[in-house]
Amino acid sequence: MNGLSTRIAFVSGAGSGIGRATAHRLAVEGCRVAIVDVRLTAAQAVADEVIALGGEAIPVLADVTSSEQVERAIASVVEAFGSLNYVVNCAGIALGEGGVVACSESDWDKTMAVNVKSIYLTGKFGIPAIIAAGGGAVVNVASVFGLVAAPDECAYAASKGAIINLTRQMAIQHAADGVRVNAVLPSDTDTPLIASLLGVSGDELTEAKKQLAVPIPLGRLAEASEIAASIAFLLSDDARFITGVCLPVDGGFLLK
Ligand SMILES: NC(=O)c1ccc[n+]([C@@H]2O[C@H](COP(=O)([O-])OP(=O)(O)OC[C@H]3O[C@@H](n4cnc5c(N)ncnc54)[C@H](O)[C@@H]3O)[C@@H](O)[C@H]2O)c1
Repeated sequence: MNGLSTRIAFVSGAGSGIGRATAHRLAVEGCRVAIVDVRLTAAQAVADEVIALGGEAIPVLADVTSSEQVERAIASVVEAFGSLNYVVNCAGIALGEGGVVACSESDWDKTMAVNVKSIYLTGKFGIPAIIAAGGGAVVNVASVFGLVAAPDECAYAASKGAIINLTRQMAIQHAADGVRVNAVLPSDTDTPLIASLLGVSGDELTEAKKQLAVPIPLGRLAEASEIAASIAFLLSDDARFITGVCLPVDGGFLLK
């Protein structure tokens, strides 16, 4: 993809799943990647994987719900790599919190903080650094459940809907600054998040994933690498006239 080589990317939630796959893909495309996660061991492991692939990466410990930690993380990336071109917001949680009657206040607050406030914070501290570097791009990971109802996940659905309109707001606000802001909307994707949400393992997990794939016209869950490919495209210069787009990467899920 055009333009990714030597650029500097901050990827939150890069210790697992879609963030990890995005770090791998961006490194293969020549980006220097900050592997940002609340779990330092996971961030270090992914940084080691990227380096083993021949890429350049640093692990960065940060809880993306904390203003101080995000500000420090962005500053440490600029210090380590010299500037910042891209922010990818992959950090997210799905707690299986139920509907509004069942959902605890703490699950509501935690979901909104990790999934939405994090994007406000990485934008608050990251976008000035991107502008200082002469422009760049942000990609937010929302979900198809930001557009259609999610059974049993009121906070998750609300958080993903909020990401979609926050993406549009950020895009219009920063277009003149040379910062493009887009979102990807995955359907169910085969990552540790899905396994932990389903709460089963082994054959039961395989069967549960088959059931999740039933409403997907392409007949399977997404691979994390497929979501990463769409993120890399939206960051790249191949997408230089695309901003404010919320791109379903869903095997046709939203068609029905
Ligand atoms: N897996 C799916 O089916 C799916 C579908 C649609 C959207 N998404 C979204 O994609 C994103 C990534 O999901 P995933 O499946 O890769 O999940 P995952 O659980 O595999 O990875 C999420 C990562 O985020 C990190 N994280 C969590 N809270 C954090 C915090 N406060 N600060 C910093 N890091 C934190 C975790 O440590 C973990 O490494 C999430 O926003 C999720 O909602 C996932």
